[in-house]
Amino acid sequence: MTNATPHALEVSKLSKTYGSATALRDATFVLRAGQFLTLLGPSGCGKTTTLRLIAGFEPPDTGSIHIQGRAVSGQGFTVPPEQRRVGMVFQDYALFPHLDVAGNVGFGLRGDKKVKAARVEEMLALVGLSAFADRMPGALSGGQQQRVALARALAPQPELLLLDEPFSHLDAALRAQVRGELRTILRQAGVSAVFVTHDQEEALSLSDWVAVMFDGRVEQVAPPRTLYTRPATRRVAEFVGEAFWLPAQADGLFASCALGNVALADSASGAVDLLIRPESLLIDTVGQGTAAVVEWREYYGHDQRIGVILADGTRLVGRAGPESAISVGQSVGVRARTAVLPYAKADAVPQTTA
Ligand SMILES: Nc1ncnc2c1ncn2[C@@H]1O[C@H](COP(=O)(O)OP(=O)(O)O)[C@@H](O)[C@H]1O
Ligand SMILES: [Mg+2]
Repeated sequence: MTNATPHALEVSKLSKTYGSATALRDATFVLRAGQFLTLLGPSGCGKTTTLRLIAGFEPPDTGSIHIQGRAVSGQGFTVPPEQRRVGMVFQDYALFPHLDVAGNVGFGLRGDKKVKAARVEEMLALVGLSAFADRMPGALSGGQQQRVALARALAPQPELLLLDEPFSHLDAALRAQVRGELRTILRQAGVSAVFVTHDQEEALSLSDWVAVMFDGRVEQVAPPRTLYTRPATRRVAEFVGEAFWLPAQADGLFASCALGNVALADSASGAVDLLIRPESLLIDTVGQGTAAVVEWREYYGHDQRIGVILADGTRLVGRAGPESAISVGQSVGVRARTAVLPYAKADAVPQTTA
């Protein structure tokens, strides 16, 4: 390792098979010290398997894992979980029901009683549960239980924290709040973390880097903005946001399509499909752009989604601000707001119907 600061985590060409089922193939990504990386993908794509291999609960079939520059899994050897300095927050929190909050948080701590107690106190203060030290887990809300699980995982000062779908048991209203709290706590603790989720909004809002997985493979690793604005493949584009595919004929940095001549963000030639996200479109009543009719409108407050149909029958979805009074049945003009990305025609991936 030539770097002055080693990566918090380096996962290289990791593969794992259960019987005849391949859970993970050649997974490769790195996590820089102090950063958050999310493994994002549909159920069954290998996210939990990846975490279990990093934690050392199971050895990989092939590939290697380095934590802080130290090899913990590789050809023919594996360091046991308790020697990895990895903390884990499980999907169901896995709190000990017969131990109170302080007992849960101190469970993994060894050594002097006083030092332990001080560490438990420090962790409870960090997660805002100092007043709950004597509570039993059953008498806590879901959000509080999660913070106990977090405090327990952080107490032994892990070099790396793994969190498997940490918000899946919280209702939607609580989720956004707890997400913000968790981010603040982890940044304060200065810990590097790997999250697992199937929720794209969660992944994009919480992470420095996102690794998108399908069928046991990592398809793209990128910061949230890159992932959303420059998805590497069609299914990444569809998984991280709303995507419509507009057939087009590309010539360099321009393409002709149902929206007329549009600028491309990447040069291309021949038959392509353009990635259109709702916010890629400008829908205007002044009549600029391609003529269309508003078919439906969904009002959300912070914005609204507007379904339009072009003269040639193409259906697209756009977004408008909260004050726009565009109504169903109205004639509008539709334009691309910015340069759009072209994708090769690939029938291997099903197209989203508009
Ligand atoms: N212990 C196991 N035995 C057999 N198959 C498993 C085992 N663990 C995971 N799998 C399979 O590996 C694949 C990936 O699982 P998992 O990593 O749990 O996915 P995710 O967490 O993304 O939902 C799935 O097809 C799952 O059925
Ligand atoms: Mg899982």
